[in-house]
Amino acid sequence: MDTYREFELGRFHFRRDDYFAYVRFPTQRGGSLEHRMDIHAFLRALVRDVAWGFFYGMIKFDDIFGTINHYGEVEVFAGKYCGLYRERGLWHEERLKTGEVEGVFRAMLEDWVPEDFDPFVAPRETGLAVGPKRGSNLGAIGRRRVVTERMIRQEDRRDPDYPVNDAFKGMAFQYGEMHIKAGHEGKFGLVNLFEYLARSDVTWNPSVVSVVEHSLFCPTTEEHALPVKHGNDRVEWFIQLNGQIDWEICDQKTGAPKAYVRMRPGDVAAMPADIQHQGFAPERSMLLVWENADPEMPQKVRQGAVPGDPDKMVTLK
Ligand code: PHB
Ligand code: FE
Repeated sequence: MDTYREFELGRFHFRRDDYFAYVRFPTQRGGSLEHRMDIHAFLRALVRDVAWGFFYGMIKFDDIFGTINHYGEVEVFAGKYCGLYRERGLWHEERLKTGEVEGVFRAMLEDWVPEDFDPFVAPRETGLAVGPKRGSNLGAIGRRRVVTERMIRQEDRRDPDYPVNDAFKGMAFQYGEMHIKAGHEGKFGLVNLFEYLARSDVTWNPSVVSVVEHSLFCPTTEEHALPVKHGNDRVEWFIQLNGQIDWEICDQKTGAPKAYVRMRPGDVAAMPADIQHQGFAPERSMLLVWENADPEMPQKVRQGAVPGDPDKMVTLK
C-alpha cells in the first residue's frame, strides 16, 4: 500500500498519519519534542504559507510551529514564540534559504494532500484529509493569489471563470454609470467588487486587485477560521465589507491574549506590528485587507522611523 512520505528540513522532522501531522525538533534544553497538529489545520496553514511566499512577517500554524519571512531567508521555529515553551527551553529555530523551505513544504503538500481534500476552500465545500494515502490534489494546492494583470477593459482580459458562491446567491450586484468621452471607449470599464468576491472559489486567500506604489488592496472572502495566526512586521488595515469576522489578537512573541475585535460591515481596524491576529467568520463574508508592500517597512518599524502602532499614525482621538 502507498504510504505518506516523511520529510526533513534542517533538524526538523515531519510525518503524518491518518489524523495528525507531527513536527519533531531538538530543544534548547536537550532531547527532542514531537508536536502534533490536526491534519486539516496543518495542511490549510501549509498551503497558504507556500502560496503567499511566507507572507509578511510571522505565520504561526498554531501556538507552537511556524515561519518568519526574512525575504530571502525563512526562520522556521517551534515553541519559540509560545511563552511557556520559551521559558522552559522547549524551543528550536533555524534560519534557512527560502527556496529550501519552499521545496520541502511544497513536496509535503504534494504528498500529504489527498485527491478529495482542498485546503483552500471552506470546510463545507470539501472532503476530508484523514485516512490513508490516496492520490494528490496538485490543481488545488498549485493555486496562487490571483494578481490582476490586465486593465479592466483590455480586449484579452479574461472574465471571471467562477460561479457565484452558494452563500452569495441572490446578492444584487449594482454596476455604476459611466460616461466616456468619444474615442476613449475601449479604455475604461466598471467592475463590481462584490460580484468579483462573490465569485471567489477560495477562502482566506487575498487577491491583489489594485497596486498604487506600495499600497495593495487585497480583498478576500472568508469562512470558518483563518488557518494561520499572522504576526505582521508592519501595520495592516482591515475593512469589513459584509458578514462578520471576530479577531483574536495576541502578543506576537508570547501568544498571550490582548484583545478581541468583532467587525461588522463598514468597520475598519488597523492591526499593530507587534501582535498576531487570527480571524473567525461564522459565515462567508467579504474583507478588504490593505497592505503596505514597501520592502523597507520591517526595518523602518524596527528602527522607529515609522510607528508600528497605528494609533500613532492617525489621530482617532
Ligand atoms: C491576515 O493575516 O491579515 C489575513 C490573511 C488572510 C486573509 C485575511 C487576513 O484572508
Ligand atoms: Fe494579517
